[in-house]
Amino acid sequence: MKPDADFVSWFRSVAPYINAFRGKTFVVAFGGEVVADGKFVELVHDLNLLASLGVRLVLVHGARPQIEARLNERQLQTAYVRGMRVTDAATLQCVKESIGRVRVEIEALLSMGLPNSPMANADIRVASGNFVTARPVGVIEGIDLMHTGEVRKVDIAAIRSRLEQGEVALLSPLGYSPTGEIFNLTLENVAAEAAIALKAEKLIFLMDTAGVEKEYGSGAEPPLLRELTVAESKALLTNLANKNTQLSDDAQLYLPFAVSACEGGVSRVHLISRHVDGAMLQELFTHSGIGSMISKGPLQNLREAGIEDVGGILQLIEPLEIDGTLVRRNRELLEMEIDRFVVVEHDGMIVGCAALYPFPDDKAGELACLTVHSDYRSTGCGDALLKNIETKLRLQGGKKLFVLTTRTAHWFVERGFIETGVAELPKAKQGLYNYQRRSKVFVKEI
Ligand SMILES: CC(C)(COP(=O)(O)OP(=O)(O)OC[C@H]1O[C@@H](n2cnc3c(N)ncnc32)[C@H](O)[C@@H]1OP(=O)(O)O)[C@@H](O)C(=O)NCCC(=O)NCCS
Repeated sequence: MKPDADFVSWFRSVAPYINAFRGKTFVVAFGGEVVADGKFVELVHDLNLLASLGVRLVLVHGARPQIEARLNERQLQTAYVRGMRVTDAATLQCVKESIGRVRVEIEALLSMGLPNSPMANADIRVASGNFVTARPVGVIEGIDLMHTGEVRKVDIAAIRSRLEQGEVALLSPLGYSPTGEIFNLTLENVAAEAAIALKAEKLIFLMDTAGVEKEYGSGAEPPLLRELTVAESKALLTNLANKNTQLSDDAQLYLPFAVSACEGGVSRVHLISRHVDGAMLQELFTHSGIGSMISKGPLQNLREAGIEDVGGILQLIEPLEIDGTLVRRNRELLEMEIDRFVVVEHDGMIVGCAALYPFPDDKAGELACLTVHSDYRSTGCGDALLKNIETKLRLQGGKKLFVLTTRTAHWFVERGFIETGVAELPKAKQGLYNYQRRSKVFVKEI
């Protein structure tokens, strides 16, 4: 493919995501390390892009390294209980100073508008404020955690009104109590609670590892678990507690929050690396993603197609029409024949389709347009579509399933189809047979 064609096809492949994301709320959470490492500029470019595509952004930042540095400067030691810092008055002072400084740096970078940079013409207004009400964690194991708190309420009305004005909301890991106290919170607690309260479409955690890795620590590059349901995530955490598996520190930290966010109604939680430039774009705008995605239930389902699927089907089959594997179908024809199609939907995208054209007089049907997106092949998707079409035909009283193919003969032979001739096709189909295309005809008794 020529570079121009690559660009056009890439740009088109992104269109469904752009349409799906417009007006949706994404909560993006990142630790203070992202700001400390100087990586935030790259992230700002990607956030700017999302904002300009109409995504409503809520950013949640952390400040752990900055707080540690401040405590060291002051030579203050803090105790931890169950992984939570005990925040006394002196520590709280360091927390406030560090978070204030990080917040100002983030606001400054989000205000960039340099010409010839991805920020040219960007007009991001940042809204930060007292959006989070907190309560004290209290006494644990006999130790008072003092100013360490947890989220009590998120002021969603205030955040929503800022988002509706086109502003980006910025939340810090600090909360205020009705008694006027300040509490030190964790970014993951703030992010998960904000995402739940706002009914966010996505909660994205940027972390040190690539995502949730299977058997972390057992090999040089442990395989990444690309998709996990809540049940699978819980099983993993149980195995971790029973020492039957290992997870990276970050996966151990974020996975429980991912689970509670999904259970609280957030559609998808993404755990991705903060070290890869553009990781968020790859995760959001490509089929395969780059990190781990957690959702409440399985993401894939096979169903009857509806008129709203026409665009997705056209996009799926277009490359195969261009290379001649499939016969061309225009939009009008597809719209008229959409009732004949079944589709496999994965996370809102059409990744597979097939159609059944019945010939009731011959007690037969034709399987057509069987396609699975290249990223989803060899996972049984093709088989599932074929089985669905066979069942449909059987329910209609059909006995023979025909298929015309130029390049996929073996796939059908391995699934019980036998080569036959054009003369065996239903009469109505024989008249439509394209002798130039010279497709082979296969049939399966069902
Ligand atoms: C044919 C197709 C639908 C199969 O989808 P799928 O989801 O990968 O199917 P399954 O997972 O059920 O089966 C995958 C197996 O089929 C094999 N296979 C895929 N294409 C094949 C072909 N053209 N010939 C023979 N075997 C093939 C794979 O190698 C894999 O076998 P393996 O598991 O032993 O490696 C998919 O490859 C596709 O969309 N191809 C392009 C469109 C096409 O040719 N459609 C048929 C038009 S008539």
